[in-house]
Amino acid sequence: MTQRIIPITSANFIAGRTPDQPLDLPAIFGNNQPLALEIGCGTGHFVLERARKQPETNFLAIDIYNKGCHKTCRKIDEAGVQNVRVMRIEARWLLDKGLQPESLSAVYINCPDPWPKKRHWSRRLVNREFLLNLAQHLEPGGDFFFSTDFDNYAQSVAEQIRDLNGYHNMLQDEWTHYLADYPISKYMQRFLDKGQQIYYMHYKRDAGVPRHLLPSPPVRRGFRFDWQKVGND
Ligand SMILES: C[S@@+](CC[C@H](N)C(=O)[O-])C[C@H]1O[C@@H](n2cnc3c(N)ncnc32)[C@H](O)[C@@H]1O
Repeated sequence: MTQRIIPITSANFIAGRTPDQPLDLPAIFGNNQPLALEIGCGTGHFVLERARKQPETNFLAIDIYNKGCHKTCRKIDEAGVQNVRVMRIEARWLLDKGLQPESLSAVYINCPDPWPKKRHWSRRLVNREFLLNLAQHLEPGGDFFFSTDFDNYAQSVAEQIRDLNGYHNMLQDEWTHYLADYPISKYMQRFLDKGQQIYYMHYKRDAGVPRHLLPSPPVRRGFRFDWQKVGND
């Protein structure tokens, strides 16, 4: 059974989400402010809070989930926040096709699907290949925040990022269970309410490593995301 696609008419929604060329972000936001990206924004709790606190930064909130994009747009519209745009797009596709290298001042990934079963770990979004690709898109000194409720996901990201040239850990340890001024997302709140801990990680793209010295992401052959199957809005 396919889910009904909710048409999204918000002016803050970027429709036609399969760019083959980098997005024209100054035209989309109407200014040249730094760009932060939230991957997997869900229903928009986090991006709304973060964007309110940082009006001098533009936020692109993406999710592959139509209903999530719809709810995020509604929240942003109702709040009258000017510096958020929402796009329904797959994260790796956006990085590969839609964004310029070194164009992101910050990237946030909160409670990504944990794929808890060992045989499904390869489906996790954040792995070595993803981290290599992300480093290319973070500006020197740009921030990467990752949070998860799942200890094994935190461990695997910590192990993979530790060995990568180009990331600098901003925490004393590999993660912390409290990060000052970091908004609580809907999923974080759900886990906190159950008494579970959140693993927060914060890295910076090392400003001392120029992009040509970053390790190259592997060439991904035949990467496709079939938008026909997920609807048109
Ligand atoms: C578990 S939810 C967490 C939502 C939100 N970040 C929060 O903490 O409340 C994960 C979200 O990531 C989205 N997602 C999963 N894989 C994605 C991908 N490859 N690109 C973009 N969004 C993705 C899902 O649709 C879902 O909304």
